[in-house]
Amino acid sequence: MTVRSLQDKILSLKAQTDTCILAHSYMSQDICDIADFVGDSYALSVKAKTAPNKNVIMCGVRFMAETVKMLSPEKRVYLANPTAGCPMAEQMDKEVIEQVRKALPGYAVVAYVNTTTALKTIADVCVTSSSAVKICRAMPEKDILFIPDINLGTYVKNLVPEKNFKLLSGGCPTHARIDEEDVLAAKKAHPEALFLVHPECRPSVVKHADYVGSTSGIMDFAKKTDKKEFIIGTENAIVEHLQFDCPDKKFYPLSKDLVCHNMKATTLVDVYNCLIGEGGEEIIMDEETRLAAVKCIEKMIEYGG
Ligand code: 13P
Ligand code: SF4
Repeated sequence: MTVRSLQDKILSLKAQTDTCILAHSYMSQDICDIADFVGDSYALSVKAKTAPNKNVIMCGVRFMAETVKMLSPEKRVYLANPTAGCPMAEQMDKEVIEQVRKALPGYAVVAYVNTTTALKTIADVCVTSSSAVKICRAMPEKDILFIPDINLGTYVKNLVPEKNFKLLSGGCPTHARIDEEDVLAAKKAHPEALFLVHPECRPSVVKHADYVGSTSGIMDFAKKTDKKEFIIGTENAIVEHLQFDCPDKKFYPLSKDLVCHNMKATTLVDVYNCLIGEGGEEIIMDEETRLAAVKCIEKMIEYGG
């Protein structure tokens, strides 16, 4: 079977079964092509709430499918590949954060959306990479315990000096793998290129950026500017998508190691198997947990992206 014939089968099954396919922008091009919506974590959360379909398949990682279920409990929500987790989301558990919180009375818990459902039940508000600065500025509390990403937390802390931040040492193993030497080498190889970077990278990397933003932010910036060459400091799928979208521009990966193997776990065949009921995993969530966890996501959406 060819990629194109499999895509055609998926498109007709999707219509027959009233299924919406959501894909994070780190998915491969063949999956993005058949998705109803492709975006960053924030945009996917908003879309999860408004999609009219009975069924949703998430092509991304587990916390993203769980977020869809929280926001749309009446829908049947599936994670296309059940092995796709986010190592950062697993780094901190509820009990540990409850202890930290006891030691920091009065601090609001701001949780990156890359967290487990259990942890979301004790967070005051969720943020994504595109909404974190705006939300931390706007929320009334002055003292903020920001979990789990120390790199995103440091980025936000520097832009919101009027608040007190307590950061813990979690992070994304994919982005944190990159160091300043990778940036200097890429800039030397491509001296004319602008450097666009995700805030999950280390501060020593982010400080060299011409633009810092979420995956969608990086893509929008590269598409809108007149500049022609870019070093992309996030998962290498974004290099591929931008090259498709802007064939007249040049995109270079910051490092060949900027690959998230969890995001790469989902294939087009997984999407097909999920649609025919022979793969994927339906997300099941008890109502008490859902109600406790969804509050911080709803609050994030109220503040806006
Ligand atoms: P955004 O989707 O907010 O850019 O985050 C990237 C990421 O690492 C998702 O897991
Ligand atoms: Fe998690 Fe990082 Fe992979 Fe995103 S890129 S899913 S934060 S490990």
